[in-house]
This record gives sequence, C-alpha cells and structure tokens, in this order.
Amino acid sequence: MDDLKKQTTKDGSLSLYSSNYEECFHDTEGALKESINKYLLPAQLDRFSNSKKIVVLDVCMGLGYNTGSILEELLKRNHKIEWHGLEIDQRPLNIGLNEKTFQKLWSPKVLRFFDCLKKSERWIEGLNKGTIHWGDARQKISEIQDSLMFDLILLDPFSPQKCPELWSEQFISLLSSRLSLNGRLITYSSAASIRASLKKAGLKIYSIIPSTDKQNKWSLGTVAMKQQLEQQFISKNCQIKNLSDRELEHLNTRSSIPYRDPTGRGNSKEIILSREIEQSKSQLINTSSWRKKWNAAQ
Ligand SMILES: C[S@@+](CC[C@H](N)C(=O)[O-])C[C@H]1O[C@@H](n2cnc3c(N)ncnc32)[C@H](O)[C@@H]1O
Repeated sequence: MDDLKKQTTKDGSLSLYSSNYEECFHDTEGALKESINKYLLPAQLDRFSNSKKIVVLDVCMGLGYNTGSILEELLKRNHKIEWHGLEIDQRPLNIGLNEKTFQKLWSPKVLRFFDCLKKSERWIEGLNKGTIHWGDARQKISEIQDSLMFDLILLDPFSPQKCPELWSEQFISLLSSRLSLNGRLITYSSAASIRASLKKAGLKIYSIIPSTDKQNKWSLGTVAMKQQLEQQFISKNCQIKNLSDRELEHLNTRSSIPYRDPTGRGNSKEIILSREIEQSKSQLINTSSWRKKWNAAQ
C-alpha cells in the first residue's frame, strides 16, 4: 500500500513517486509546471470559439494536474465541457485532495470537480459534465459511447518501458480513431515508437518546443492530429513545431518499432520482450548510430 510516496517538486507542487513503476508521476522541475508546458500550452485553447463544446479525455489522470490546468482555462472561457478520465488507481486523487498545497492550486470550481469525481465518479455543473472511469484504460475506454469524438486527448502514462500496455500501437490506434477533426492528442513522450504508432494511425505529428530553461532537450513531447496544422499555429504561438531532421531520422531507427498488444490484455513484460525480439531481428538503423551522429552535431 505504501508504494506511492509524496514528493514536492521544484515549483512547490505536490507529486508522487511510484516504487512499483520506479518512476515519478511528474518532472522534478514541477508537477504543475509540467502540465502547463506539456499539455495546456500545446492545446492552444484559443483555437476554439467560446460557444463550442469541448470534449476532453484524460488518459491516466493520476493527481489530475493536466485536467486541472485545462479545466481552469475552459471554465474561465465559459466553454461547455464534457470530460472523461481513465485511471486505474483512486489513491493519487485522494492523496492530492488531502493536501493543502494541492487544494490551494485550484479554483473552487475545479476543486469541486475533483471532489465530485472522488465521491461519486461524476461531475455535473450547469451544462458541463464529467465521468471518471476507474480501471484499466484499455478496457474502460469502452464505457464511453463510441460516437463521442474528443477535442483533446491527454496521454500521460508512465514511460513506455514501464507501462508499454498504454503505448501499444493498438491502444494508440484506438485513441487516434476517437479524435475529432480539429482535435489534438497530446503527450509528453517523444519516443520514436510512439510517434511511429501515431503516424501509422493516420495522424500528423508535431513536436512540443522545450521551454527556455530546457534548451538542452530536443523535444518536450508530441502533439498529433488528423489534419495538417495551419502555419499560423506553428509560427504564432511557438508551442509546437514541425519535426526536425533529427526527429524525422529517429523514426527510421529501431526505436520506432512499436509496442504490440493485440489482445488488449497483454502484460508489460510480454510486450517489452516481444518488442526486444523484433528489434534484434530488424534491418532498421541502430538507434545508437543515430544518437552518435546527432550528439556529435551539437
Ligand atoms: C505518470 S502518472 C499520471 C500523472 C497524472 N497525469 C497527473 O497529472 O498527476 C501515470 C498514471 O497512470 C496510471 N495507470 C497505470 N496503469 C494504468 C492503466 N492500465 N490504466 C489506467 N491508468 C493506469 C497510474 O495509476 C498513474 O496514476
């Protein structure tokens, strides 16, 4: 039960460390900061007119930072909201709601949203509604009506090496099929396998630009969408950009081999093992050659 340990990140916001996954929930620089830089800003909410209903899917809600940051903005702009969350563990949200530092981050409306999910799995406020679907995201997504298309999909599982089941090409293809025409799937991952799976699912992919204090990073993540992005959204706000040559070449390396989970019930060890076998037989360029080339170019 004590596999989750509380941590305070550098921006003062609460995060958790999972000893089961041997990973933190957030970047040590800041849980709140990460949700803003990697999810809220790349969502470019200004694109949506205020009268539009925004449909959001949060995959791996955890403590709820990504959703919280986005809801704060959508509520200010008076959007009508429909929200769905997928999360296997109820404890992160409960831990957050018991901490003053977490409570203080949110407006009364967003705090009430979190409270409703905790108490009754549902949130209703005026015309807005939300449901948290507790359980394995791969199965629980089927509780959401097929015809509902998402304007924002926030994809935030533990890393592919730790939680490959939520990065499989099958799950990514399923999520991609649920994006609305102007929707965006946003993730912190810039892994070649994830980007290749998004492309295979027919999406256009863009790179999230590192914030000024992260200039040593080549990407903060990926934004994927059905339609080509209009130039104005690439150049004006500068949160996202076309993939660089380095990133495009990455997609031709062995790292681009996908995680496969054809049954939707595979366990992480099986998925990792079958990918390693596939990589060892692959004719694709070795990722270390790609890394050497681009590290030397820096
Ligand atoms: C990196 S954390 C998410 C952080 C979160 N977005 C936040 O803002 O706090 C990953 C989350 O994935 C959840 N998770 C792991 N396996 C899952 C699964 N199969 N289905 C749904 N959620 C899962 C974990 O319980 C954990 O809360």
